[in-house]
Amino acid sequence: MSRLAGKTVVLGITGGIAAYKAAELCRLLVKAGARVRVVMTDAATKFIAPLTLQTLSGAAVGLDLFSLDEEARIGHIRLGDEADLIVIAPASADAIARLAQGLADDLLATMVLASRAPVLLAPAMNVNMWQNPFTQRNLGVLLATGRFTTVGPDSGDLACGWVGAGRLIEPSEIVEAAVRLQGPTDLKGRRVVVTAGPTFEAVDDVRFLGNRSSGKMGFAVAAAAARRGAEVTLIAGPVSLPTPAGAGIVRRDVESAEQMRLALAESALGADVVVMAAAVSDFRPATRAAGKLSRRGKSATGASTGHPLSIGVVANPDLLAELGRNRRGRRPLLVGFAAEVGGAPDVLLQRAREKLVEKGCDLVVANDVSVPGIGFGSEENAVTLVSPNGVTETVPRAPKLDIANAILDRVVGRLPQDPSMSVRRSAARAGGGGLLSPKRVTTIRPSRERRRRG
Ligand code: PMT
Repeated sequence: MSRLAGKTVVLGITGGIAAYKAAELCRLLVKAGARVRVVMTDAATKFIAPLTLQTLSGAAVGLDLFSLDEEARIGHIRLGDEADLIVIAPASADAIARLAQGLADDLLATMVLASRAPVLLAPAMNVNMWQNPFTQRNLGVLLATGRFTTVGPDSGDLACGWVGAGRLIEPSEIVEAAVRLQGPTDLKGRRVVVTAGPTFEAVDDVRFLGNRSSGKMGFAVAAAAARRGAEVTLIAGPVSLPTPAGAGIVRRDVESAEQMRLALAESALGADVVVMAAAVSDFRPATRAAGKLSRRGKSATGASTGHPLSIGVVANPDLLAELGRNRRGRRPLLVGFAAEVGGAPDVLLQRAREKLVEKGCDLVVANDVSVPGIGFGSEENAVTLVSPNGVTETVPRAPKLDIANAILDRVVGRLPQDPSMSVRRSAARAGGGGLLSPKRVTTIRPSRERRRRG
């Protein structure tokens, strides 16, 4: 049976010549067992008749946010609440831009804004519109939330006469992507802690040592884990990303490695899994100067700061290794990352294996951050998964959400069958200490966000 069977899929259709293919998509979704509700923008109705979609879906088509009759029958909030998945196909450049801005000026945009359901976008447009930096930026904004994913577009002859990327991907492939998005809830009942982003280590009151991590990889892991049913604590370094949509994510913002260490101490104790995607600074300035260091070693008031123009550094604690060293009670399953720079693939693997052993991990995710388009700041990554038994697996270049799911697939296979065999209990039996040897350990039990369904 298809994973779409019994699921409510809202099919959003926006204006573009590819809108005619939405009829076939609607038919395939219905065939897969989904309860399909169609919402069309005004522009979409210029390309395909609502009656076609109404006939294929067997339900009234939503067109007008301000129609009294329609709002009473369909209701944009109800529609958004009922949706297990929103598929927007074709997704025009205009629709992507408006969604990225959070506009709510028509039924489709308002429903997406009011809903928490995952959104699958199937872009279709002229190749230049697709490649336009504005479109790519808008898409990046949506993907960074962890709630939106894309399928396609395809390359080939376009209706406008150009040849290139921008064709709506085949409806059957959109259905496949929708099925994948209704993926397993195999982390239900598990508590997952994810660290993401850089740490900033203060030099003085205005400057810091940091790195180029954007947090996207860790946020993708958090989004994927929440989507698979986990209660997630996301410990975020200083990043400018919104918390991924979806229930079950509790976010804790920190700045320095020491603050991340404290946040970990509090949340790792009760966790089943800890994923360390953060780029924790290995060093911090030996002293933090008050005020703002001047280039002459004087403060703003002219007083000597006693700081010459060189910054002494000391090593930060290795948070992952501290977790890995814990031998009291059962510790969470530990997933470390290894950010390597260049070198032959076997050298990269060797370094990752050393980190696996040195830091006591159950899995290491190695990425070569010197390759353009992956690693720091990018939407995609390509990784090698290294296990203690010597097995290595390559996950080819893909959006970070896909990489996150590939990591979690391996994590799920290593967890004890019964979620109630949680580390929480054994850690409590062990006296509650041990993890990161915190000065103060409190188990934070995140209050579950209320959801109407499941
Ligand atoms: O955030 P993005 O822009 O999306 O980029 C993603 C990423 C490149 C940051 C991510 O994929 C990644 O590689 N994260 C780990 C970065 C890193 O610090 O790697 P490392 O090889 O230096 O450290 C190995 C492991 O030890 C990591 O899990 C790290 O979190 C941990 N560590 C490192 C130093 C330290 N003092 N404490 C730690 O716990």
